[in-house]
Amino acid sequence: MLDLFPLVRPFVHALDPESAHNATIKALKLGLTGQLGRNTDDPVLETTVFGLSFKNPVGLAAGFDKNAEVIVPAHKMGFGFAEAGTVTPRPQEGNARPRLFRLTKDRAVINRFGFNNKGLEYFEARLRALPANRGIFGANVGANKDSEDRTADYVTGIKRLYGLSDYFTVNISSPNTPGLRALQSKAALEDLVGQVLEARQEKMAAGAKFIPVLIKIAPDLLPADISDIADVARGSGIDGLIVSNTTICRPDTLLSDKRAEAGGLSGAPLMAQSTEVLAAVYKATGGAVPLVGAGGIASGADAYAKIRAGASLVQLYSALVYDGPGLVSTIKRDLAALLKADGFSSVRDAVGAGTSRQSS
Ligand SMILES: Cc1cc2nc3c(=O)[nH]c(=O)nc-3n(C[C@H](O)[C@H](O)[C@H](O)COP(=O)(O)O)c2cc1C
Repeated sequence: MLDLFPLVRPFVHALDPESAHNATIKALKLGLTGQLGRNTDDPVLETTVFGLSFKNPVGLAAGFDKNAEVIVPAHKMGFGFAEAGTVTPRPQEGNARPRLFRLTKDRAVINRFGFNNKGLEYFEARLRALPANRGIFGANVGANKDSEDRTADYVTGIKRLYGLSDYFTVNISSPNTPGLRALQSKAALEDLVGQVLEARQEKMAAGAKFIPVLIKIAPDLLPADISDIADVARGSGIDGLIVSNTTICRPDTLLSDKRAEAGGLSGAPLMAQSTEVLAAVYKATGGAVPLVGAGGIASGADAYAKIRAGASLVQLYSALVYDGPGLVSTIKRDLAALLKADGFSSVRDAVGAGTSRQSS
């Protein structure tokens, strides 16, 4: 298929990043982009994780589709799954613009959106309007900035959207809502997970089906934090962890003049850091909790590195800014070739292959 993105990129990048993003969402909503990626995937890419069968393990990370408006187009790009949100109970403006920055020389992005979104009511209506064959997707839920009980906000999101998505992500790792990341501490996380899983239990007791719940964590964690999170994940019935959100670190290697902007850094400079944390979480959980690897993926080799470090699935966002939707097909093709070259007949066989596969 002809990839037109290199031709349109100069025009897209001439816009300020947020306007470019909004124009992209509009074009996708209108269906102007058509079929963007290959729809048939190499069977080696098929995988089953937390009871869901994926045609391929490459997903669209949260934040691209904050209001669940382009779930079907995301699958047309070739993604095996998409994650919509973060959605908060009430609509929220987010921080003042500008709040999204391209670090072109670094193939990176900094954002400090602060959960701008149209709220649960709009999000729910979008999910109810989806066609039956819409492909696998997750609903990523968060808390309002001015909420007095943030844990209650997550529970509200899950109850409201229960049964409308294939999985939930509880996002406690955005650096742009002050204090949010404190929910990653052991006691707060235990309480949050307890309440969230109780909400699921209530729904199931009333006849609803089981929906997997994942927790999305930051890459800026100390070994002690990782060990606490692993303990909670293993002990609680959480179905998976997404590793990771954006970082508040600014590596010395950054070249762009935008590097000092406040917010979360994502894209290429996050790849090594987030993969290290992923491998540490895989080790700390003994491979017992499915992991989704995110952070800096821009090639089949990057996706493969995450899988070998312990990811059962991967997600990306920032690389799309530089490479466009054609990247998804390239990543899938190269990942399939890498798996086969190493003698793997499925993604699952390669999960954690680059670690000591310690089980405890
Ligand atoms: C502009 C932007 C907005 C984001 N918004 C969210 C969000 O609302 N919720 C969330 O869980 N992650 C959000 N993320 C984080 C991504 O989902 C992902 O975890 C992170 O960017 C690392 O992947 P990448 O390097 O491929 O972008 C956002 C990322 C970017 C670049």
